[in-house]
Formats: sequence, C-alpha cells, structure tokens
Amino acid sequence: MNNIIQIVGGNSDIAFSTSKIFAKNGYDIHLVSKNFKNLRIKKDKLENNFNIQCKITELDIENENDVKFFFEKEKDHVSIVLMAVGYLEKEEKNYDKIINLNHKSLIFYIEKAIQRYSNHENFKTIIGISSVAADRKDDKKNIYSSSKADFTNYLNRLRIRLHEKKIDVMIIKPGYVKTKMTTGLNLPSFLVSTPDTVGKIIYNSFKNNKEDVYAPGYWRYIMLLYRNIPQFIFKLFLIFKR
Ligand SMILES: NC(=O)c1ccc[n+]([C@@H]2O[C@H](COP(=O)([O-])OP(=O)(O)OC[C@H]3O[C@@H](n4cnc5c(N)ncnc54)[C@H](OP(=O)(O)O)[C@@H]3O)[C@@H](O)[C@H]2O)c1
Repeated sequence: MNNIIQIVGGNSDIAFSTSKIFAKNGYDIHLVSKNFKNLRIKKDKLENNFNIQCKITELDIENENDVKFFFEKEKDHVSIVLMAVGYLEKEEKNYDKIINLNHKSLIFYIEKAIQRYSNHENFKTIIGISSVAADRKDDKKNIYSSSKADFTNYLNRLRIRLHEKKIDVMIIKPGYVKTKMTTGLNLPSFLVSTPDTVGKIIYNSFKNNKEDVYAPGYWRYIMLLYRNIPQFIFKLFLIFKR
C-alpha cells in the first residue's frame, strides 16, 4: 500500500502542482477542498497520469461541525497532512474570512487531524503553507499578512509540541506565485514563480527534512533584508507616496 498525503485546499494551484510530484513519487493522494467539480477533474488527471489512487472530499473547513464529522468518519492512515488553504482580498473587507482561511480554521483542522492520526505509526509530517507575507511589517495586505504570521507562529510552537511524537512540522513560505489567488495583482514579474516550481521545492524539502522553507530560496535573503529595515522607513515612505 502507498503512503497517503492529504492535501487540504486541494484545488489550490500550488497544492495541485505539489500533488502531481507526490503522485509521481508513488504517494496516494487525498484532496480535500470546497469545490467538488474541480476536485473530480484533478482526481481524473492524477489517476490517468500516475499509477496511484486519488480520493476526493468536499469540505468547507470554515464549518467546524463538518470538519468534526469528517474526522469522526475518517478511517485512512495518512502519512502527511498538507494545509494549502489560503484566502486573499485585493481590498481587505471580509476580515473574518481572511482570518479564518489563513489561520483559525486551519488550526482547528490541524488539531482534529492530530487527535485522529497521531497514534498511527505512519503519520509523520504536517506541512503548512504560510507566506513571505508573514515576515512583512509594512501596510500591505495587513490582515492577510498578520494571519499568515499567526499561522506561522502556531506551526513553530506545534513543531516543539509534536517533537516527542516524532511528527515533523514543515513551514513553507512562498513568494509571489502565478495562481488564481494572484490573478489581477500587479506583481514584479521577475519575482513571480510558477506553482510547479513551488511544488517541486515542497517535495524536495520534504525529502531532505527541511523545516523552514522559502520558495524559491532567494526569498530567504530578500526577507532577511526586509525584516531589518526599521519601521520608521516605511512611515517615511508613506509620506513620500502622498
Ligand atoms: N499565490 C501566491 O502568490 C502565494 C504566495 C504566498 C503564499 N501563498 C499561499 O499558498 C497557498 C496556496 O495558494 P494558491 O495561490 O495556490 O491559492 P489558490 O489557487 O487561490 O487556492 C486556494 C484554495 O483554497 C481553497 N479554499 C478556500 N476556502 C476554502 C474552504 N473554506 N474550505 C476548503 N478549501 C478552501 C480553495 O478551494 P476551492 O477551489 O475548492 O474553493 C482554493 O482553491 C495559500 O495558503 C496561499 O496563501 C500563495
């Protein structure tokens, strides 16, 4: 029997690219997401192209009762849970939704997954897709960025909590990626990667037991510089922009 990776937000472009690489390397895939029609299309593509099984589950992770019910019924022994759900608004208005889909609902899901899977010997890894936005301290996408920072914080502490159980926690921080999330945003094209590039980085980092991963790796240095800019510079920048 193959190992199973469960990918939550399985319709995400980055998630689908990641699922193709895991499938190519012999993993069975369980895609969990909201849009069932799109999940079916992805299942067919994965099963037609790779010699694996793909299970799909329609689930809105904001609905805590549905998440509880899903885990009550869940019988599989999964090896990896990858959280790819994320939500961004150009003009931030739906604060609850942004906080839920980048932080609160993900934590609820992960905690249920730990309760359900952590006694299984083959449950080894939780992968959370955060963002370089978690490192920001300017005014851009304030609620999205701070939710990603909160999610990253949670994963960092979870890593210590699960250490004795020998469950690894990987944090992925992608930079700009060309997906449906970033459609219509004005991004510097030389810094935009493809979902396939990020998917490969996630798989290779998993194989090499990496814990904190920037995708692509050059974002580590960009964000290192960025984090060291004193905040008053951002305030000055705002005055010049007026
Ligand atoms: N794209 C970037 O530049 C970028 C950069 C840094 C970090 N990230 C992060 O990378 C991850 C993947 O991003 P992406 O660009 O691939 O995004 P995407 O293509 O927009 O996919 C996000 C997915 O989340 C799923 N989702 C939303 N609400 C849900 C809910 N209530 N329950 C279950 N699933 C739900 C959606 O699934 P359905 O289609 O089924 O509704 C959607 O396909 C996100 O966490 C994002 O924040 C992206």
